[in-house]
Amino acid sequence: MNKFDKFLQLQEQISKKITQVKTLEQLESIRVSILGKKGTITSLLKNISAQIPEDRKVFGEQVNQLKRKVTEEIDRYKSNLLDAEIIEKISNNKIDVTLPLPESGIDIGKIHPISQVTEEVIEIFSDMDFYIAEGPDIEDEQHNFNALNIPDSHPARQMVDTFYLPKVNGESRLLRTHTSPVQIRTMLTKKPPIRIIAPGRTYRSDSDQTHTPMFHQVEGLVIDTDANMGQLKWVLEEFCKSFFEVSSIKMRLRPSYFPFTEPSLEVDIACHKENNQLIVGEGEDWLEVLGSGMVHPQVLRNVNLDPKVYKGFAFGMGIDRLAMLKYGMTDLRAFFDSDLRWLRHYGFRAFDIPSLSKGLSE
Ligand code: PHE
Repeated sequence: MNKFDKFLQLQEQISKKITQVKTLEQLESIRVSILGKKGTITSLLKNISAQIPEDRKVFGEQVNQLKRKVTEEIDRYKSNLLDAEIIEKISNNKIDVTLPLPESGIDIGKIHPISQVTEEVIEIFSDMDFYIAEGPDIEDEQHNFNALNIPDSHPARQMVDTFYLPKVNGESRLLRTHTSPVQIRTMLTKKPPIRIIAPGRTYRSDSDQTHTPMFHQVEGLVIDTDANMGQLKWVLEEFCKSFFEVSSIKMRLRPSYFPFTEPSLEVDIACHKENNQLIVGEGEDWLEVLGSGMVHPQVLRNVNLDPKVYKGFAFGMGIDRLAMLKYGMTDLRAFFDSDLRWLRHYGFRAFDIPSLSKGLSE
């Protein structure tokens, strides 16, 4: 027998062993016993230098060839075993693809209608180039009343029931009764032209089916050299059409009174009931949706704007009320009861992000 025939024999032995293997673990232990640190082939490789010089080259070639072949064989066998394992798993795993999907967290958690409607309002006004402004919930008399042309003696102070807080360093503190103080804060810090909306929480000591001590408003303010009532009417009309998702809307502007606007108007939109459902946009009844007007010259002076140069219009509306009208809830108090059944019914999916292009409430 040729002295290198032993390599052939060895290869056959190894092949035989490999083909008997049933699991990946067995294959691995064979691999270690052959190619590992102390493995058969590894020891042969270490032995090259022990050969007589004229044999070394062929011996080396033979061992390396053996190593290559065995490695290839092991790899091939390994991938066969892996395939078999996957096939076995699939055939054992009986999934009934016709079963309904389990409810995911995304469907259990809901977005509160107030958050959703606030997002809808923001989406509409952003599209008209309005920016979002914010102010604190805890205000002082200066921003909530005085600067808005409601001095201490003014009857409008008694018109709403204000939550007063204890004074801090002799200064008055109260929970803002409307979002209008954000008008003042904005005009004091930003140069015209100004075009903002300010959504947020507001507070009045009031509670019945349509009033809660905490509620939400969104304020709008535009200041420019040529701001006028025509623009105010257009903005409000566009808003109402977009918000109620109707192509035309019948609106009524009614003279009203707010100390910080002159003239002041209240806006009603037409509506009617159909099969006990409220249809907004047309009909014989009227729904009051917001208060508005041209910014009072005294308010402009209070924030160091010259009423001869600048004009402005402002509006304010109740977000909760808008939500009730659009989505048909009848009792405002339920908004704040944290009743999960209510929220599951009236809430929105987390992925229903309002967008004008896809339709606000699709
Ligand atoms: N702040 C007023 C309210 O709470 C609404 C309003 C805002 C009216 C802006 C006119 C202009 O009733």
